[in-house]
Amino acid sequence: MKRITKAIIPAAGLGTRMLPISAAVCKEMLPIVDLPAIYHLALEAAASGITDILIITNRGKEAMENFFDLSPEYEKALAAKGRQADIDTLKRISSLANIYFLRQKEPSGLAHAVGNARGFVGDEPFLVLYGDDVIFSNVPVCRQMISVYEKYGRTVVGVKPVSHDELKKYSSLKVEPIEGESSVTYCTDMIEKPREGEEFSNLSILGRVLLTPDIFDVIDSLSPGAGGEYQLTDAIAEIARREGIFALEFEGERYDLGSKIGLLKANIVRGLSHPETKDELRAFLREISKDIK
Ligand code: UTP
Repeated sequence: MKRITKAIIPAAGLGTRMLPISAAVCKEMLPIVDLPAIYHLALEAAASGITDILIITNRGKEAMENFFDLSPEYEKALAAKGRQADIDTLKRISSLANIYFLRQKEPSGLAHAVGNARGFVGDEPFLVLYGDDVIFSNVPVCRQMISVYEKYGRTVVGVKPVSHDELKKYSSLKVEPIEGESSVTYCTDMIEKPREGEEFSNLSILGRVLLTPDIFDVIDSLSPGAGGEYQLTDAIAEIARREGIFALEFEGERYDLGSKIGLLKANIVRGLSHPETKDELRAFLREISKDIK
């Protein structure tokens, strides 16, 4: 079985839910305390054994390239002040993995973004980390997904149960249990943004999929789906109907950094464990919660 070493992070969307800030600052660079969302995704991939990451980007998102680059001017200034720990942090970021960038010429949907990566992927299975979805977990979610692939050798999608209202925004999967498995199910169909009555179950794909290269031919034959965009769910649905795939209910807390509330929640959670902020933030939250009705 081929080892999985490549990942794609589609980050070329317009981010309209984060307007007005996203018109000037790409949402993937918005901070969770002092590190941008895109860092957490690259870290998760690298911690799972991924050596090569392709970030699909767009005009106006150059800040991501700068972030993963070396920072000689900062290193010089920090060295003069004896701040070696900060220099080490910057160096660690730039050496996380081999990080490549490719522009999606127009934001026509997640499947279109992934379709651009065919040359990068070649004939290997690969991971996709949706650029909005940061997941904090004990075992990196990509690692959890790879374990399922190593067992079954087929496409794996990362899922969570969601509320009835959320299902309409995400996807709904048709699954059946597998004997002896508690968090992995067998999936034979799915639908993107189901309308009332079209749902299969309350399980939705949330932010991580592990795909095989046959997805590219399916993507090439797709028609625009929900919202007039080329939907990755539609392509994965085709593979699920054809051969069956596996759904992993992963361990971890997922934050939608493409939404205002997701960004706020992630900052509070991380702020409560960050050594420089935790004590003051805890005291501040206690104080203001007295006045919250
Ligand atoms: P979303 O639909 O959440 O992102 O796509 P969006 O389109 O930027 O968000 P809104 O709805 O306008 O606020 C999930 C992920 O897929 C990427 C996005 O950047 C995001 O990380 N994406 C989406 C692309 O790379 N290209 C696309 O054409 C669409």
